[in-house]
Amino acid sequence: MVETVSGSKTKVPINIDRLLVGLRIPFDVYYEGLDGLERLFPKWTHFDEDAHRVASLKGITTVYVEGDASLIAAYLGQSQPADASEGLELEKQVAYTKKKKEYHQIEKTLLVDRNLFLPGSRITFSLFEIDGVSVRQIAEATQRSPMLIPAHGVVVKGDLAIRAQDIPLYQDYLQGLFESPAIPAEVRRKTRAISMKENSKILMRDVLSDPKDSTKTGTLVTFVGSITDAVLNQDVEVQDLMSLRNHDLYTYTHSVNVSVLSVALGAALGLDRDRLEKLGIGAMMHDVGKSTIPPEVLDKPGQLTNEEFRLMRQHPIEGVRILEPNPAIPRESLVAVLQHHEKLSGNGYPLRLGKDKLTIFGRITSLVDSYDALTTPRPYRYSHTPYMALALLTREVTEYGDYDADCLKAFVKVIAELNV
Ligand SMILES: [Fe+2]
Repeated sequence: MVETVSGSKTKVPINIDRLLVGLRIPFDVYYEGLDGLERLFPKWTHFDEDAHRVASLKGITTVYVEGDASLIAAYLGQSQPADASEGLELEKQVAYTKKKKEYHQIEKTLLVDRNLFLPGSRITFSLFEIDGVSVRQIAEATQRSPMLIPAHGVVVKGDLAIRAQDIPLYQDYLQGLFESPAIPAEVRRKTRAISMKENSKILMRDVLSDPKDSTKTGTLVTFVGSITDAVLNQDVEVQDLMSLRNHDLYTYTHSVNVSVLSVALGAALGLDRDRLEKLGIGAMMHDVGKSTIPPEVLDKPGQLTNEEFRLMRQHPIEGVRILEPNPAIPRESLVAVLQHHEKLSGNGYPLRLGKDKLTIFGRITSLVDSYDALTTPRPYRYSHTPYMALALLTREVTEYGDYDADCLKAFVKVIAELNV
């Protein structure tokens, strides 16, 4: 897993304590291994207590950083020398968390082919770049004085974001992207998918902020219906609805990914439209129960105590408890929420349901949830490629009988058809 690099002169040695716990590292980090410099943390790794522990276990005190010189200087300028007090670090962490709430991050990969911000399109909200702990406005626009996207598109080094208060304006923009006749025909399918994906992430963000609000949930439920139709009618490519997650502002994109992939897998297995929609809704809401887990347990970097572990494993039941009184949620969708961590072998949780009790919704969501978790980058380890993830899941089927073999077979085809 560790990448070896040949001796480059651009790597700058620094004391490991200059890396800020709780923040993303905006450059690649290397250490001196047996065969020369080896990559320790890829760029944008979330440097948390666990990552710090990995480095201490390896006995590493000096690391070598490589990346954009101004970014490194800005980051190191912010980081305290080795004897920094814990209080300062905490202060920065609090400021960072607060900042995350004030902004809504837009997936940077969407800028690459420029289909989100087509040159010449009109935006009524400002754009910001988030680099480490600093936020910089890169484009100023309001409803009164809109801005046209220049011919070279939008270019950022860090992450792209808008102010949270501008989300409704961004949603208007996405709506235009979805239906405007001015969008060139050759990119229309792509822009429609981007519009759907971005919108569903915003709606999921709303639901997670208050999962008991039935209006917010109802809006998302209706939206899952449109996603189901789009996938079924092949109006969009499934892969264009998937999000790449490379930073921590995207906890809600996991829900969107699991929903889209569950609908695609359900369709491959021949479920009808009505059931697909119910499956998609359950898959979208599958982790809503996590909102009841205190953040200090949810984000705990070290090992969980038995009690904390028990609490974590209750989230499917908590999810059902939150959603059950909500008339917008079909009863069948609750099954997906309840069963998304169950295994055919009976080794899942919370009810340890086995073969006889695990429904098709449970079989699909547990497989897709594990796949999306495996392909998501984590601190101090690379994400698995789709191929690797499928190989691991196949082993789980053959050795432990955890997942449904027919589901996996169909899922391999679904993933193979994505251009990932
Ligand atoms: Fe879960």
